[in-house]
Amino acid sequence: MRVLHVAAEVYPHVKTGGLADVVGALPLAQARLGIDARLLLPGLPALRAALEAPRIVADIGPAFGAARVQLLHGRLAGVDLPVWLVDAPLLYARSGNPYLQRDGSDWPDNLQRFGLLGWVAAQMACGRLDPDWTPDVLHAHDWHAGMACAYLAAHASSTRSVFTVHNLAYQGLFPHQDGALLGLSSRFMSSAGLEFHGELSFMKAGLKFADRITTVSPRYAQEMATPEFGCGLDGVVRARATAVTGILNGIDTAVWNPTADPLLPSSYEAGALEGKARCKAALQAEAGLQASEAVPVLLALSRLTQQKGLDLLLRALPDWLALGGQLVIQGSGDPGLQQAFKDAARAHPGRVAAFIGYDEARAHRLVAGADLIAVPSRFEPCGLTQLYGLRYGTLPVVRRVGGLADTVHERAGSSGDLATANGFVFEQDDPGELAQALRRAVSAWRDPAQRLALQHTGMAQDLSWATPARAYASLYGSLLQSLGAPA
Ligand code: ADP
Ligand code: GLC
Repeated sequence: MRVLHVAAEVYPHVKTGGLADVVGALPLAQARLGIDARLLLPGLPALRAALEAPRIVADIGPAFGAARVQLLHGRLAGVDLPVWLVDAPLLYARSGNPYLQRDGSDWPDNLQRFGLLGWVAAQMACGRLDPDWTPDVLHAHDWHAGMACAYLAAHASSTRSVFTVHNLAYQGLFPHQDGALLGLSSRFMSSAGLEFHGELSFMKAGLKFADRITTVSPRYAQEMATPEFGCGLDGVVRARATAVTGILNGIDTAVWNPTADPLLPSSYEAGALEGKARCKAALQAEAGLQASEAVPVLLALSRLTQQKGLDLLLRALPDWLALGGQLVIQGSGDPGLQQAFKDAARAHPGRVAAFIGYDEARAHRLVAGADLIAVPSRFEPCGLTQLYGLRYGTLPVVRRVGGLADTVHERAGSSGDLATANGFVFEQDDPGELAQALRRAVSAWRDPAQRLALQHTGMAQDLSWATPARAYASLYGSLLQSLGAPA
């Protein structure tokens, strides 16, 4: 079975969030199952630079406002799969965030940039660009690749499409009049197609035209269909209810592995946690926190956006400090939140530390060295950092939403089942509830037997991509079978 993943990010080259981690790991896990999984990505500078032995497979000429578009084939360092890049320097040769200008606003030509990506994907599916390889399944990720599903629907092709929603909040919205640049018929521009409250939505293109829709946790699959979490698209999701599945993300257990993580000062495993204590001491030193094994260190590692609920953490901070805890955060995003965490660090030297910015290597050191990791999100399609926490014996404290609800389980009272508990969960978007969950977490953490039981449960879980990769494989299989194509 040949599967083409279409996405805008891939770890370790281009990453703004968990999407990159998924695109860097899921196709490889599929390859291990014998699926011929490959990637199609935009020719962003970091990808262009990392493409080894590039070969031009198609000269597309002018398209989507770019004077010269070529399809390149090669391999990316660290991604052990064949890769195609859409090389269009006018559209993609821009450093920094793939979607945003330096001032944080969208690139004004994102419609062309990601319209082209989808168009090339569909052309490949129709066998027009690389005669050597045509996918059976085109697997598009998030709005950046949503147009692949629409362009494919506009053609007669035996290739089937799967669209994975990683985050419904980012929709790829464009002025309706720019739709003419997409070269699709008016039926695609109507409310039966991309039209969304007077604009065009690339997310809606994926939701409307994909043969199957997946999202990254079973709980978020249900939430997407509700007004509370549907970001205005819940009606579109409900209309496709029979095509929607939630498949929980895995993590790359080669990259996130405390027993063999070259980024850590000391390795460790569930049965021998001395190395984790050394990681904690190193973290306290690196962050300028008072050195103490007895003080719980709470970590937040996140984009700083409304989604992540870190304002709740700021409001719960006085309670956390009253419990005797330390806080370290690493994140970037909202300038107000960045400043608030910097101010908190200045107000509580030795007890609160804030690393503003993005640092992959330090992220590993922080996850390993912390005792608890807070993920108080308002919504969370899956969430990966709580999974990294579980794998590193760092107990997650999360809100019961989306993938957080599916992956973190709290013991119900002191008599509840300790064998399945792996963290702490609160219900409402409320700093008082977060503070209470932190209190429960600290009291369990201070009890060596409970702490070890919780750590062991999390560290023993199979969080790898093996199970989700099989779930996607059976989804592709049933899709191809139901539509009469060869499986
Ligand atoms: P989202 O994709 O919504 O941001 P996820 O939890 O799925 O949330 O994935 C976030 C990814 O980004 C994780 O790999 C996490 O470690 C990483 N990350 C987030 N912020 C930072 C940061 N400031 N520095 C390094 N890594 C970060
Ligand atoms: C999105 C979501 C996050 C998810 C990630 C990878 O960025 O916000 O919850 O883990 O995609 O699927």
